[in-house]
Amino acid sequence: MAETSNIKNIGLRGVKVADTRISDVDGTNGILIYRGFPIEELAEHSTFEETSYLLLHDDMPTVRELREFTDGLRKVRSLPAFVPEVLAHLPKGSLPMDVLQAAVPLLAMDDPDLADDSREANLRKAGRLIARLAAVVAAWHRIRNGQDILLPDEGLSHAGNFLWQLRGEKPDHETAKDLDTALILHADHSFNASTFACREVTSTQAHMYAAVAAGVGALSGSLHGGANMLVMKMLDALKGEPDVAAWVRLELDSGRKIMGMGHAVYKTTDPRAKFLKNMCFRMGKKLGEDHWCRLSTQIEATAVAEFAKRGKTTIKPNVDFFSAPVYHMMGIPGDLMTPLFAVSRIAGWASHIIEEKFGDAHGETPALYRPSSEYTGHYCGKEGCTYTPIEERGGAMGTRTL
Ligand SMILES: CC(C)(COP(=O)(O)OP(=O)(O)OC[C@H]1O[C@@H](n2cnc3c(N)ncnc32)[C@H](O)[C@@H]1OP(=O)(O)O)[C@@H](O)C(=O)NCCC(=O)NCCS
Repeated sequence: MAETSNIKNIGLRGVKVADTRISDVDGTNGILIYRGFPIEELAEHSTFEETSYLLLHDDMPTVRELREFTDGLRKVRSLPAFVPEVLAHLPKGSLPMDVLQAAVPLLAMDDPDLADDSREANLRKAGRLIARLAAVVAAWHRIRNGQDILLPDEGLSHAGNFLWQLRGEKPDHETAKDLDTALILHADHSFNASTFACREVTSTQAHMYAAVAAGVGALSGSLHGGANMLVMKMLDALKGEPDVAAWVRLELDSGRKIMGMGHAVYKTTDPRAKFLKNMCFRMGKKLGEDHWCRLSTQIEATAVAEFAKRGKTTIKPNVDFFSAPVYHMMGIPGDLMTPLFAVSRIAGWASHIIEEKFGDAHGETPALYRPSSEYTGHYCGKEGCTYTPIEERGGAMGTRTL
């Protein structure tokens, strides 16, 4: 049949499928940039709102632009009334990522710009999605616990307001700032699986919400955003474990993965993990909970040593490894950690959707993604297999006739 290809079944590793001006990952040297800025620079000096503006607009905002952008997000924080009404009818045990994915088309139904595909309208859609994914996650948590949902607080940052709407208490400045920094760190990561899903759907000319719903679905998987929740499960299971090293060995000997370790692109420590590790110890000391970070570090050290013994010297902690204990100390339940990833990544998704839609990186409308595949199924020759009526098949296999 078709000529064989040596790039299939490797998850497109190393295959450049498009240009992008939004972010870049240097996996060998552990460098991540957004629009040219190193992630460390943004995590130290920027805010999630400013970073979102940068990702969406390819430039840092002026004071006025940032104020307008931030005010714009604040104005659309409230959910349309029917969204919490629908959420209230969902089974309380639903997976939060399923709820979030289901809520995205609901938000589309309220968007006055839905039919307008201009750049300005897409930027407005991006703002609504950035503001409202956070609101959906917080609302769902309260609804499932039988609590009233809370109105947003105009005086709080995006991160601070999320903590308020989720927990029902105003966060102190440092905690809100730490979450803000974590949101910056998770906001974009070039052509990761969920972003690629968003861009792929966008290439069909579907609207932004359809693309974001695909992104949420892709992010939910345990090899992608779903890993942070599993890291927290691992930490919970290991908190009284006297022999962490033996546990790590057993996991690897049994062919199981250590969650939060390894990366498709980084072959050294993920720069975001370094930042989150420091945050973990700082928060842990402040709250008297640094046992989480010590346990994580113990798992890290033994796993890296075990990987090395097995000839795998490039598997190091990724972003999920230390975000889990950090979020836990902020009072975020384990199953909301992946939705919280989406609350941040929406800034990157929306930026990539706009870049894809308008061909910003290569100056022309991009083509519909339509890869090809190698057919390895049954083949009955040029004429194809002959259909056997069901009553003549008699439960036997091999009913395709040449
Ligand atoms: C992210 C991930 C899918 C990347 O996988 P990948 O591109 O295949 O990574 P590599 O090519 O470096 O993997 C090489 C080998 O190490 C193994 N490996 C990678 N990460 C591992 C982990 N966390 N635990 C155990 N083994 C791991 C792979 O299974 C593979 O083994 P093999 O050669 O015997 O088949 C993988 O590291 C993983 O599953 N990590 C855990 C989940 C996670 O934290 N995901 C979040 C990513 S941000």
